Amino acid sequence: MDKANILSYLPDHPWTPHIQVMEEVESTNTLLKAMGRNGAPEGTVLIADRQTGGRGRLGRTFCSPGGVGIYFSVLLRPNCPPDQLMHLTCAAAVAMCDAVQAASGLRPQVKWINDLVLGTKKLGGILTELNFDSASHCVDFAVIGVGINCLQKKEDFDPSIQDIATSLQIATGNQTDRNLLSAEMIRSMQTLSCQLHTEKNAVMERYKRDCMTIGKDIQVIRSESIRTAHALDIDDAGALIVRYTDDGSIATVSSGEVSVRGMYGYV
Ligand code: BTN
Repeated sequence: MDKANILSYLPDHPWTPHIQVMEEVESTNTLLKAMGRNGAPEGTVLIADRQTGGRGRLGRTFCSPGGVGIYFSVLLRPNCPPDQLMHLTCAAAVAMCDAVQAASGLRPQVKWINDLVLGTKKLGGILTELNFDSASHCVDFAVIGVGINCLQKKEDFDPSIQDIATSLQIATGNQTDRNLLSAEMIRSMQTLSCQLHTEKNAVMERYKRDCMTIGKDIQVIRSESIRTAHALDIDDAGALIVRYTDDGSIATVSSGEVSVRGMYGYV
């Protein structure tokens, strides 16, 4: 990963002064949250070649070996109430589909709410973390972290995830330029974060088009239960609207884990 190379794709970009590229970090999200608490501005971007403690949603680890992936975090200071923040993950997901398509020619889909997928396998993921101002309880800043598998071959993945993970190399047969993809991630993230202020409905429509979960049979997994359901739609807030199989009731799911039948080993 080469900062000068990344910047060469981004002439006059407003975030250029705040982009940092690192060899190794524990977690770009963790570091950027600390920088946010020290006043780092909107558009601060951290990109690492490898992470020693990459984190995913629901307390999981995100495997982040060197030389093959992109580990990216951006800090935003969105001026909106906490209940509108699911939109940030949706906007980031659309931005990442745009970026991957621009750099590799292949458009991923999104498994609600934060997984980037190609076919039935996971290409990457998004972790949005919020920092609240303790006095006002308003959102002080958001850190959006994205990990994308680029150059891995099947045998590079841990055996436990070889059947559920994929990479751009596996899917295209080509070596996607990670510097170009990083630049496209910055470009599309800035574009979508602006559009979220002015054209939120259009961004959510795009998210719905990219989201492969709609129309699928799913499992809604909670600590106390697993219920099968059919995913009907996504509401204006970004929550998944489902019809439960057992009693036919309609509900919205806005947190926790959803498995899609046919993906990641759920048959
Ligand atoms: C998930 O699949 O649950 C989300 C994975 C998010 C991984 C990215 S890699 C860059 C950033 N730093 C982290 O520690 N996590 C995110």
